[in-house]
Amino acid sequence: MTSSTTLPNMETGLHERDRAGVQDFVLLENYQSEDAFIDNLRKRFQENLIYTYIGQVLVSVNPYKQLPIYSDAHIKEYRNKHFYEMPPHVFAVTDNAFRSLIEENRGQCVLISGESGSGKTEASKKVLQYIAACSGHQTTVEGVKDKLLKSNPVLEAFGNAKTNRNDNSSRFGKYMDIQFDFKGAPIGGNILNYLLEKSRVVAQMGGERNFHIFYQLLAGADDKLLQELRLERSLDSYNYLTDGLNGSVSSINDADYFKQVQQALAVIDFTAEEQREIFGIVASILHLGNIGFKSQDETSEGNAQVNSRDLVVTVARLLGVNASELEAALTHRTIDARGDVVTTPLNVELANYARDALAKAVYDRLFSWLVQRLNISLQAKEARGSRNHVMGILDIYGFEIFKTNNFEQFCINYCNEKLQQLFIELTLKSEQDEYRREGIEWIPVEYFDNKVICQLIEEKHKGIISILDEECLRPGEPTDRTFLEKLTQQLAEHHHYVCHEKAPIQVQKVMGRNEFRLVHYAGEVTYNVNGFLDKNNDLLFRDLKETLSKAGNQLVRACFPEQELRSKKRPETAITQFKSSLNNLMDILMCKEPSYIRCIKPNDLQSAGVFDDQLVLHQVKYLGLMENLRVRRAGFAYRRSYELFLQRYKCLSKNTWPNYKGSGGAKMGVQHLVRDLGYDNEQYKLGETKLFIRWPRTLFDTEDAYQAKKHDIAAIIQANWKGLLQRRKYLKLRAQVIVLQSYCRRRLAQQAAKQRREAADKIRAFIKGFITRNDAPNGYNDEFIANAKRMWLLRLAKELPSKVLDKSWPPAPGHCQEASTYLHRLHRLHLARIYRIQLTPQRKRQFELKVLAEKVFKNKKNNYASSIPAWFQDDRIPKEHIQRINDFVASNFGSEQLKYQSACTKFDRHGYKSRERFILLSNKAVYVLDGKSYKQKHRLPLDKIDFTMTNHNDDLMVIRIPLELKKDKGDLILIIPHIIEFSTYIIDTVGTADIVSIVDRDSLEHNVVKGKGGVIDIQTGAEPGVVRDKSGHLVVIAGQ
Ligand SMILES: Nc1ncnc2c1ncn2[C@@H]1O[C@H](COP(=O)(O)OP(=O)(O)O)[C@@H](O)[C@H]1O
Ligand SMILES: [Mg+2]
Repeated sequence: MTSSTTLPNMETGLHERDRAGVQDFVLLENYQSEDAFIDNLRKRFQENLIYTYIGQVLVSVNPYKQLPIYSDAHIKEYRNKHFYEMPPHVFAVTDNAFRSLIEENRGQCVLISGESGSGKTEASKKVLQYIAACSGHQTTVEGVKDKLLKSNPVLEAFGNAKTNRNDNSSRFGKYMDIQFDFKGAPIGGNILNYLLEKSRVVAQMGGERNFHIFYQLLAGADDKLLQELRLERSLDSYNYLTDGLNGSVSSINDADYFKQVQQALAVIDFTAEEQREIFGIVASILHLGNIGFKSQDETSEGNAQVNSRDLVVTVARLLGVNASELEAALTHRTIDARGDVVTTPLNVELANYARDALAKAVYDRLFSWLVQRLNISLQAKEARGSRNHVMGILDIYGFEIFKTNNFEQFCINYCNEKLQQLFIELTLKSEQDEYRREGIEWIPVEYFDNKVICQLIEEKHKGIISILDEECLRPGEPTDRTFLEKLTQQLAEHHHYVCHEKAPIQVQKVMGRNEFRLVHYAGEVTYNVNGFLDKNNDLLFRDLKETLSKAGNQLVRACFPEQELRSKKRPETAITQFKSSLNNLMDILMCKEPSYIRCIKPNDLQSAGVFDDQLVLHQVKYLGLMENLRVRRAGFAYRRSYELFLQRYKCLSKNTWPNYKGSGGAKMGVQHLVRDLGYDNEQYKLGETKLFIRWPRTLFDTEDAYQAKKHDIAAIIQANWKGLLQRRKYLKLRAQVIVLQSYCRRRLAQQAAKQRREAADKIRAFIKGFITRNDAPNGYNDEFIANAKRMWLLRLAKELPSKVLDKSWPPAPGHCQEASTYLHRLHRLHLARIYRIQLTPQRKRQFELKVLAEKVFKNKKNNYASSIPAWFQDDRIPKEHIQRINDFVASNFGSEQLKYQSACTKFDRHGYKSRERFILLSNKAVYVLDGKSYKQKHRLPLDKIDFTMTNHNDDLMVIRIPLELKKDKGDLILIIPHIIEFSTYIIDTVGTADIVSIVDRDSLEHNVVKGKGGVIDIQTGAEPGVVRDKSGHLVVIAGQ
């Protein structure tokens, strides 16, 4: 996960943490030992590891060479990483602050401290670089970022100079606020400047230079501009540049920088006019430096006179003031003493002082104007960001101890005392306060509180500043010496004040009589009081102010406002101004969350690779790093609110992953977590709201475990994410399907509804049709009726009787009655027809005979009914006789056809004796044959005879024979077994029923030969039979 392969020169990778020394001093075994501390710094320095932590404080050692650790790739690496995840770096500190700002809405400040040349300004630029790189890229933001970044070259050109310690030493203090919107994009900025070292304008120490801009202008301006400014491209021509270092410095390309400054000015929207005026002022200072004075009367006390009027004219032209007025102002002084305005000429010394004061004032005010102008340009266009969304960067001169220390060093060191105080307040004190607040057992760590020194300097009425101011304002003849005397008088007893008189002998040896010594927290500094009063008064004669307030150069006019002249109030002294601006700064910083960058300079040679143990040790001491470390170590290296700790490391225990659900909130969760992580009691303490971890090692181990675990979590997250994607896909698909489905369902539902509606319509029509089914067709019942007819026909088709005898007929609805009757008839005819067609000729004959029988006998003879069931047969001869009968027919019938034959019984006319006979019917006659001999007894032609029978249930048949058939003597009385059958055949053969007569009487007469007759009585009885009764009658007993 780390970048060890991609980014060289970084101790990336968790395993590499302790590659050279320790990344965090808290890890030092021997943390009390300064040697061990320096050792660690050196080891790391030699490996080009210039950054080391003390807890959250970053210690930075100036490498004096470019290290490849500030690329965009590095910035990316540090972006949004956990503070301890990556090796120490200014980017890590910035990222931490930046995230607190954005995420927790807490105002931030990055406090960069250290000696001159220790790398403060470079560090502040890295902070800015990081912020610019990791904030948004909208064009509006780009503009702001550009301006923020470009403000640096401008400020450095005017405020930095080459000193013996630093080729690019900031000669002013700078506090820069960057304002962000809620998303973390910079939208504006504001710069506060502190105490420009303006004495440098007129004089520099050996080996040092004036402010860069002078050299840059001379080297970089084109000839036209130089000509306009009346300048020559020669450094030696200008007195103000010749004090310290003559000429250019190889390591500084002034010409290039000038181009950069011009570019930067353009980016920050300086108009051409403004630029012209700025350079006019810079040039005017150079010319001013060359103005010399000579005494009018050759004595040093004589009135001063300008020795080159041309120069005055040039300066006047550049500043846009009247040359004569300027000349007068440079050589005269007007004092307004309670209304008495007195103008006195100046001697040469005072004139020189006045000239230098003018040059310093003009330059100083130009610088302040530049800052104000930058601020206008950097002002947030809209106040979108809340007030809290501000990150301050403080890059202020470090502690200075020179051979001779002046008013400037006093101010600078005072400033550092104040900052140290702030550091103590915010770090050492607040840390211990936190333990108290959190209820953690704790043995207080002793540290030196420099409050006492601050008091020594700034206490009202008693402090050095008060005494100095008092001395400046005192009437009479105050001098630097009288000031020193006052100091000694009042402060001799103070532990941190050393005066010549009371100093031990050794000290007296190195201390001048015009010096005093302060025991600063960072070391002892001996100050020379020379110039203290002058510098504090910061006197610019009224005449010069007046002249400048009327300047044609707008910029100059703005710097010297007329109101200032009119104000009767004495202007504040320099030190008091400085004090109040410092207090103001403290107020600003106190309400912000601080991040510290402590810069250390490894050597005085400005060379790479050299590590001067003594020099470093000194800085370590006065920066209070050892104390810082002691507090860190004695206490707990790391603390984290329970919520944050749990949030980050909860994946390391089953009890807390994915979320702690138990009781007791985050605190209990953390308790579970640390128990599962195997922390022992020594290693941690539970505060009210925070977990305190004693050793960074513990946290590093935890962090390492977390890093390792990350992969698992990544897999889980990945799985969840993939799951989520699939689910989204699925949900989308489902939604689509549902849409389709709903369309389909709608369609189907519409169809179903339509069907239902149609069905309902049908049913309704049907019901209405049903209700009115019997009415005449009326629109409703048409269909019903038609349907009823159809249905009836269909039903009828299935239910038609299939037998001709079946007379049943399905019922029909009213409307079909007529048709039904008709159809019934038709159907019957149809059945009959089929029946008929199917009949065989035999059956047909049978039916004809049966029909004939019915016609003749129905209701006329009682045994007709019993004849119906059996089919008629034309042969009733028993089998044993059939041959003989056939023989008879063959030999006797000739062309006659046999119609019927049967056995029968004949009763004699006399005596009624019964005889067995056969009777045969042909188409012409009836033959009676003897029952035994088969001989013909009678042949009775049909056209001659007729037949008589009774209506009773008997088989009696009397054949009436006419008399002419003599041969047959009288009627023939026969009992014929199938009498109906026999009679029917006869009628059929004859073709008329007249031949048979049925008598409705109980007795019957028959003829015997020659007119004689007999009587046959008919009786009914249970046992049918034929008997002869006593009276000689034949009695036939018929069935009942
Ligand atoms: N991180 C760094 N990398 C490389 N060179 C540096 C670094 N910090 C400082 N320097 C060098 O040291 C010089 C002095 O640094 P600077 O920031 O101006 O010091 P200060 O502001 O503390 O006086 C710079 O001009 C630069 O050459
Ligand atoms: Mg600096």
